[in-house]
Amino acid sequence: MPRVLLIECSPNDQASPGGQLAREMARRIHPKAEVTVRNLVRDPLPPLCAGYAEAVVGKSNCEEEAFLLSEQLIGELEASQYLLISTPMHNYMVPAALKLWLDYVVRIRRTFEIHDGQRIGLLEDRPTFVVLSSGGHYLGAKAKQMDFLSPYLRHVLGIIGLHHVEYIHLQGLAGGEVEVATALQQARERLSFNPVFAAEPYPDVLV
Ligand SMILES: Cc1cc2nc3c(=O)[nH]c(=O)nc-3n(C[C@H](O)[C@H](O)[C@H](O)COP(=O)(O)O)c2cc1C
Repeated sequence: MPRVLLIECSPNDQASPGGQLAREMARRIHPKAEVTVRNLVRDPLPPLCAGYAEAVVGKSNCEEEAFLLSEQLIGELEASQYLLISTPMHNYMVPAALKLWLDYVVRIRRTFEIHDGQRIGLLEDRPTFVVLSSGGHYLGAKAKQMDFLSPYLRHVLGIIGLHHVEYIHLQGLAGGEVEVATALQQARERLSFNPVFAAEPYPDVLV
């Protein structure tokens, strides 16, 4: 069965429309998918410690202890065939909780290396979907703000080898219940044309 890693980082937890959609997407990949949920708000990661920071920049040996959590989080990534990230936009960027996760998983000599000035991603590429929720609009006719989040996240995931990244934009959620319902409905419609989220029958249960 496919293994899915679902990263959630909304302070609104179960009430987050993006989180609801991402959990639904995990089930739509396959009803028996093994889904690992890493909720970065319910179970916050500790701030980076000096040992980790020094070892990352090569000023000290790799102390295993400092890397334990980083190894665990990278291990969750390595074990997944699909990556789903549900993230709100916070001040035009990724929320702090997601940035901290990135600081643990984007690690030189472990998930990327540099050769002749070029960064080489060391993780196997896999389908990655980012559900991006925002109060306002940054795309389309109603756009009134910058979006540093999606280009940044696409860039940093690419550094570690994840290039197959698709965004599902839930914009204008501050508008109220109707806007939330409309954004969800439009996203579900678009997903129904994506083979990864196709309705049954699932390929491996065909007789
Ligand atoms: C600290 C903070 C910063 C925010 N910054 C932005 C922003 O820059 N642009 C925007 O459109 N919405 C912004 N919002 C609104 C959220 O993106 C919006 O409420 C979104 O629907 C939250 O999704 P969630 O329920 O998945 O957390 C911000 C909200 C918070 C709490």
